[in-house]
Amino acid sequence: MKGRAVYIKTFGCQMNEHDTERMLGILEAKGFIEVEEPRKADIIIFNTCAIRQKAEQKFLSSLGRVKYIKKRNPQLKIIVAGCVAQLQGEKLLNKAPYIDYIIGPDNIHILESIIEDQSERIFIHENSNVVNAKIPIKRKHSVKAWVNIIYGCNNYCAYCVVPYTRGRERSRPAEDIIKEIELLSELGFKDVTLLGQNVNSYKDGDIDFPALLEKVNEIKGIERIRFVTSHPKDLSRRLIYAMKNCEKVCEHIHLPLQAGSDKILKLMNRKYTYEEYLEKIHWLRETIQNISITSDIIVGFPQEENEDFEKTLNALKEIQFDGIFAFKFSPRPGTSATRLDGHISEEIKANRLTEVLRLQDEITERKNKALEGTIQEVLIEDREGEYSTGRTRTNKIVKIASDIALGSIVDIKIVKAHRHSLEGELIQK
Ligand code: 5AD
Ligand code: SF4
Repeated sequence: MKGRAVYIKTFGCQMNEHDTERMLGILEAKGFIEVEEPRKADIIIFNTCAIRQKAEQKFLSSLGRVKYIKKRNPQLKIIVAGCVAQLQGEKLLNKAPYIDYIIGPDNIHILESIIEDQSERIFIHENSNVVNAKIPIKRKHSVKAWVNIIYGCNNYCAYCVVPYTRGRERSRPAEDIIKEIELLSELGFKDVTLLGQNVNSYKDGDIDFPALLEKVNEIKGIERIRFVTSHPKDLSRRLIYAMKNCEKVCEHIHLPLQAGSDKILKLMNRKYTYEEYLEKIHWLRETIQNISITSDIIVGFPQEENEDFEKTLNALKEIQFDGIFAFKFSPRPGTSATRLDGHISEEIKANRLTEVLRLQDEITERKNKALEGTIQEVLIEDREGEYSTGRTRTNKIVKIASDIALGSIVDIKIVKAHRHSLEGELIQK
C-alpha cells in the first residue's frame, strides 16, 4: 500500500483548491505522495471547474494528454473530480471511457474507498450534510489557510452553473468552524480565509455572518481574517460594522458587480441595481478607512448593447476598484442565460473584454502608485532565495529583497508600484 504516487491538477476557484487539499489529505493518510508528473503517478486526479467553457476545455485537453499514459500503464487510475464531474457525470465516460472514477464536490470522502478498489464508478449524489469538513487535510501553505463556512448557492444568477454543481446552500456549524480555526492557530497559521459561494448568507441558528466574524476575531494567534465571496444584495450595514470593529478582519472585500447596467443586472437575476451597489460601496468606504475593493465583471451577457457596456465602463471609472477579474460571458449548460435571446458575437465580447481590462489596468496602476512611499503592514507568506513575499491587509502582494521569517508581520515601506504587485523595503526598528 505504501509509497504510491498521486498527480493532481486543480482548475478553478479557491473552493476547488481547498477541496484538493482535502483529497491530498485522504491520500496522504493512505501513504500516497504527491508527484509533479502524471507519468510517475499511480493515480491521476483532475479537480475540474465548470464555471466557463474555457476552464472545461482546459481540463478536457489535459485529460486527452493522459490517455496514452493509461494505455502504457493499465493499473493507473484516472479520477475526474470537481464541478465538471458533477455536471456531466456519466456523459464524461462516453467522451473518455478510460476514466476510472467520477466524483462530485460533495462526494470527496469516497476517495478513501476508491483507492481500496470499488466497483461503482460514479459518485455525484446530492449530499445534504456538510461532509467535507470532516475529511483529513494537507494544506498547501503554512501561514494562511482556507476554511469552509458555507457550501452551495441558492441565488441562481442567470449565467452561473454553481447551484447545479455545488448544490443547495448549507452552513457549517459555527462550533466546528471555531474548532478548526483554533487548531489552525495552534499549528501556527496566522491568516484564515472563510470560504463560501455567498458567505453573507451564513446562518447557524442565531449566528449570522457578522456574529461568526466576531467569534473568529476572538481566537488567539490568528492575526488576519478574510472572506470570499460576498453577494452585494446581502451585504448589510451590520456586516460592515463587524468588519470595522473586528481588528483582525482585513480591510478588503471582493464584491462582484458583474455589470453596470440595470437592464443587464436584471437579466442576470442579480437582485440589485447599480445605485444600490454604489450605495454599499459608499457605506464601505465611509466606515472602513482605506478599504480595498475588488470585483468581478462579465462582458457580453446576452442583450448587452453598446450603451449597456458603456455603463460598465462608467461604473469602473466611478467606483475605482483596486482590481477586477473580468470574463467574457460563457453560456453554461442548464443555466437560464443560455435560453435568452440576443447572444453577443465572440468578436464583440473579445473587444469589450480588452477595453474593460485596459481601463482597469490604468486604474489599478494609479491606485498602486499612490501607495509608493507609504508604510504597510505585511504578513510574510513566501520566501525564495533572498526575497520574501507577503500581502498587505488590503490583499496586495509585496515583494521584499530581504529574507524574513515566514509568518512574521512586518512594517514595509513601499518603494515601487507595479500593475499587479508592489516592491517594498523592510523598515528596521
Ligand atoms: N460566464 C462568464 N463568467 C462567469 N462567471 C460565473 N459564471 C460565468 C459565466 N457563465 C464569473 C462571475 C463570477 C466569477 C466567479 O465568474 O463574474 O463572479
Ligand atoms: Fe469553483 Fe464554480 Fe468553478 Fe466549481 S464551477 S470550481 S465552484 S468557480
